[in-house]
Amino acid sequence: MKKLILLLVVAFVGAVSARSEVMIADVFARQTTSLDGKWNVIVDPYDTGYFDYRRQPYDANGKITGGYALDKQAKDGELIEYNFDTSPTLNVPGDWNSQDEKLFYYEGSVWYRKKFDIVKSAPDHRLFIYFGAANYEADVYLNGKKLGKHIGGFTPFAYEITKLAKAKNNSLVVRVNNNRHADAVPTVNTDWWNYGGLTRDVLLVETPATFISNFRTRLKAGTTNTIEATVQLDGGDKNQTVKINFPSLKIAAEMTADTNGVARFELNTPNLAWWSPENPVLNDVVISCGADELKDRVGFRSIATSGTDILLNGKKVFLRGICIHEEVATEGRRAWSEADARMLLSNAKELGCNFVRLAHYPHNEHMARVADELGILCWEETPVYWTIQWTNAATLANAKQQLADLISRDQNRASVIVWSVANETPVSEPRTKFLKALVDEARALDGTRLVSAAMEVHSGTMENHPGAKPENHKVVDDPFGEYTDLCSFNQYTGWYDGTLEKIDRTTWSIKYHKPVVISEFGADAKQGLHGETTTRFTEEYQAELYRRTLPMLEQIPGFSGCTPWILFDFRSPRRPLSGIQDGWNIKGLIGHNGEKKIAFDVLKNFYGEKAKADATK
Ligand code: GCU
Repeated sequence: MKKLILLLVVAFVGAVSARSEVMIADVFARQTTSLDGKWNVIVDPYDTGYFDYRRQPYDANGKITGGYALDKQAKDGELIEYNFDTSPTLNVPGDWNSQDEKLFYYEGSVWYRKKFDIVKSAPDHRLFIYFGAANYEADVYLNGKKLGKHIGGFTPFAYEITKLAKAKNNSLVVRVNNNRHADAVPTVNTDWWNYGGLTRDVLLVETPATFISNFRTRLKAGTTNTIEATVQLDGGDKNQTVKINFPSLKIAAEMTADTNGVARFELNTPNLAWWSPENPVLNDVVISCGADELKDRVGFRSIATSGTDILLNGKKVFLRGICIHEEVATEGRRAWSEADARMLLSNAKELGCNFVRLAHYPHNEHMARVADELGILCWEETPVYWTIQWTNAATLANAKQQLADLISRDQNRASVIVWSVANETPVSEPRTKFLKALVDEARALDGTRLVSAAMEVHSGTMENHPGAKPENHKVVDDPFGEYTDLCSFNQYTGWYDGTLEKIDRTTWSIKYHKPVVISEFGADAKQGLHGETTTRFTEEYQAELYRRTLPMLEQIPGFSGCTPWILFDFRSPRRPLSGIQDGWNIKGLIGHNGEKKIAFDVLKNFYGEKAKADATK
């Protein structure tokens, strides 16, 4: 790793209060220094390291008085009962569960420590530490000073360290705690593994005194070839010249940012090729301000709905999707790298997908970047999952922050077309109010994408099906559907609700005249277990469920897409059936041994026919 050595010795400042988080958009569009690799760790189930012996972490002035954050080494006979230098290591990025069998089920705190030197290329440059994510809560310290606490397991955060950084031997200490909490987002009950740790990249970012903290580029609504771009500066000298250049489009512009450090551009280009799954064209963009320069690749497209149609670039599109968890099932670990993203998305591509639902939380940002490149549309989601504390204001604030962090991170990704604010949340007035607040937040931050959620379904009849018998009829009239752009819901007819024969006799009523996207259906199947189509947990049962479900869904008015559950088997503490599940949710079309199941080809054939039909329109 390139060592960064400070040219000027920065005087050590006194105790500093915990810093707030800062925005550093599109970190992969920047030159950065990776702090990935082996970090020393101390497993701390009692949070001993968080407190001094009096169980007080700070003195009256907020100065840290004890605990592992000080990263002390014993000298002169001093009693120090920890030593990061001699403690074990874990790889960062990476969950701790899959790296040490003693941590497989661990829920608690692990203290991470990384030492590093610093070079700055100019004395007035600024320094930041950027975390791709830490699940679930992270307390961050540099050289014994608290930088801040981040809550939320799947979104990026960064702190400025300019004044605290030294030339040599900086000590970065992070307490990561993955305990589940009833008031958290997600709450205590999830059908996925609670992987803890520094699960994504950790980067050192150097910028000029005034730098580009955020930028957004997109096709201007209602136009076919006007690019609108907004650039935000952070720093003391905001009235600087900002330049934007699309070399392959041969268009460029520059302007002076306003007193708030904002520069807004509109650039017309005669023949702008729109991004699509069939033609995922990406354009190089260079945005610069003084010595700061960001290079990215962005696509331009429009997404909208019209009645029950989804319109991509003004043309009706059927979403041939699949759900994906952020996991490398064959290694039983959190996915985090570009290679992991390519593995997952290339399997979706092989299935014939033009769409993926990244369930049930923001995935690492390689996923949307690789999806941009491969031409796969994305549904991204915040982990408002099942029984959230709907009337808790702090819970809502946390959910809003996670949604805002996701949107600001992925706002330039053409592949992302849906922000989803929830999954399978029991209908109640407080719940619908909570979700409406998230929809309003998403639309306020980004009015160019669709907003949805996996809503509720129930048996019964509706006025347009008075003769239907409730046991054969499903109704989608979730009140939240008033506020979403799509009518999306999970349905498990034939698995959780009845057996295969029920699928053939089930009809549907949808309250909303909106595109219908079934966000989940599926069945468990142990890869390699074969038998009759009527025998649960066999590949044959799962395949037959797909064969019967797809024609049933095609009867639903406005059926515009589906994301069956799920591409790969994934770890879940809720699936103990010995000899069959053994701690895995086995609804994958690909087993956790990496082998495809029969149902994979059933869905692949269906999508192949759909793609052919779409191509002729
Ligand atoms: C639910 C839920 C998923 C879960 C799946 C299942 O619909 O959204 O997270 O894994 O069903 O039960 O397999």
